[in-house]
Amino acid sequence: MEIKITKNPNPSPKTPADKLGFGKVFTDHMFIMEYDHDNGWHDARIVPFGNLSVHPASTVFHYGAEIFEGLKAYRTPSGAIQLFRPLENIRRMNNSAERMCLPQLDEEFALKALETLVSLEKDWVPSEPNTSLYLRPFMFGNDAFLGVHTVNNCTFLIIASPVGSYYKEGLNPVSIMIETEDVRAVRGGTGYAKCGGNYGASFRAGKKAEEKGYSQVLWLDGVERKYIEEVGAMNVMFKVGDEIVTPALTGSILPGITRKSCIELLRDRGYKVSERLFSVDELREACASGALKEAWGCGTAAVVSPIGHLVIGDEIFTINNNEIGAVTQELYDTLTGIQWGRLEDKYGWIYPVK
Ligand code: PLP
Ligand code: COI
Repeated sequence: MEIKITKNPNPSPKTPADKLGFGKVFTDHMFIMEYDHDNGWHDARIVPFGNLSVHPASTVFHYGAEIFEGLKAYRTPSGAIQLFRPLENIRRMNNSAERMCLPQLDEEFALKALETLVSLEKDWVPSEPNTSLYLRPFMFGNDAFLGVHTVNNCTFLIIASPVGSYYKEGLNPVSIMIETEDVRAVRGGTGYAKCGGNYGASFRAGKKAEEKGYSQVLWLDGVERKYIEEVGAMNVMFKVGDEIVTPALTGSILPGITRKSCIELLRDRGYKVSERLFSVDELREACASGALKEAWGCGTAAVVSPIGHLVIGDEIFTINNNEIGAVTQELYDTLTGIQWGRLEDKYGWIYPVK
């Protein structure tokens, strides 16, 4: 399928890097295509960035038929632009689509769509330290029908946003609240899928955390409410003694691409990484005995982010003196080194954009 390009006649001025923040500024163009059962995906095009016209009865508004992805385009020291493991995002999107009965994407075509948009928007990929162009592919059902039924008509878009740090703390340790009332996901639910509803359902706990001065929420499992799952926009890892522990992918956790990359990097460097259940009780004991050495979150938007405090009710666990630990720093340096092209990519994770 060809991608028809219509250039934006009124490009926007670029926002200075120190004013970017996360997800507030958008580039001049977006990719869009439509789907229906009879015609499959069609009308692939890149058009000037702008509002959509969507029927008020569309499935997305009433029944939450929506999935999305998040990945970044990075500018290397030589000025080239590269993506990090983009096929992983496309495959995860297809897994999310399967869960939500939305149509599958052709992997190769989705990659071409990403590459074509980034290539057109290359001047929007910032070059200042820790900045990148965040890409947000998403898909939603838009049947003009109020019956509760799987989707027949669907729209897929990619929008792009130049970004700086996700957290205002940057690489400084964040404080995170362990949520004990609301749950994000349960096994058999949609936790492993990147669907909008998972995030909408997390707002109440997020608001509570914010009011108490915490950056994000750490979710516990929805059944026993004792095992640690993940943070709102990151997977989590703990260094307990010499073991790196990260919650196993039991179906209620998003299989993060940064998580997968961290595990591969750590194992390659000889660390013992266990994907297993990790309870708040074990966290408490590890903290009391001094075995808990480091904790960090990892995700595309947040990169690798040290966790300085975990708070549950009145109890505060302080980790590594609220300082970034050696393994967290090593992971951050290696991962960001590969992503921004400062380090050699011996894993084949980099996809250069022409
Ligand atoms: N967990 C959740 C709930 C997320 O939203 C994200 C971000 O995408 C992650 C984990 C990390 O996933 P990734 O490393 O693929 O960005
Ligand atoms: C990401 O890391 O890409 C995310 O999607 C996290 C969040 C902004 C939803």
